[in-house]
Amino acid sequence: MQAKDSPPSPANGPPLAPSVWPQPHGPLLSVPARSEHPEAGRFVPNDQECRKLWDDFAMPPHIREHSEQVALIATVLGELALEAGLPVDLPEVRASALLHDLAKDYTIKHGGNHALLGGAWVVEVTGNPAIAQGVAHHVFWPWEEDVRNHFLPLAIIYADKRVKHRNIVTLDERHQDLIERYGKTKYIRERIEMSKQQVITIEQELSRELNVDLHASTFDSRGLVQRT
Ligand SMILES: [Fe+2]
Repeated sequence: MQAKDSPPSPANGPPLAPSVWPQPHGPLLSVPARSEHPEAGRFVPNDQECRKLWDDFAMPPHIREHSEQVALIATVLGELALEAGLPVDLPEVRASALLHDLAKDYTIKHGGNHALLGGAWVVEVTGNPAIAQGVAHHVFWPWEEDVRNHFLPLAIIYADKRVKHRNIVTLDERHQDLIERYGKTKYIRERIEMSKQQVITIEQELSRELNVDLHASTFDSRGLVQRT
């Protein structure tokens, strides 16, 4: 990784402004000392700290609105998962959802994979691999859709596919939106179709594990709402 005091200079664009790159003195957020167990006491940014990262990485307003809605759905899923007895760290789920598109604007301008770059940024500034994993894999999970063992990344994929811009929609509506906006080549359309098939599987698995029919439900600020 490039030295922190030397911001990258993309060949096809201007250097990043210092305000959108971690400062040379260390992570943007202070990572507390950890216990001996690798899973114990790891740092989880709260909502306010996630929104500070949006500022630090110059995230545009429309992506912030989208991320708020994705976080709302991911949080409801996390609460249902806890009720169903799954081992879920709700603050990590919420932080991952809030940060999932952190690198979107950068890759729109300079190219590249926004999920992977966002995951790298998030692990850099939080030191938390679980949150970064949800960001890095929020487009596609290249393994079995095992909701019980990989709840966080699968919940972020699903929540993201239920939000079109800032509106909560069905998987079909979101799929159509992705095809129209990004389906410029046969290769990309095939990837979007593969992603759709995966998210249908995730919806079925989540519904089974959480004892709800997500396909027949929508979400609002109060939680899960049965579609009329
Ligand atoms: Fe994204």
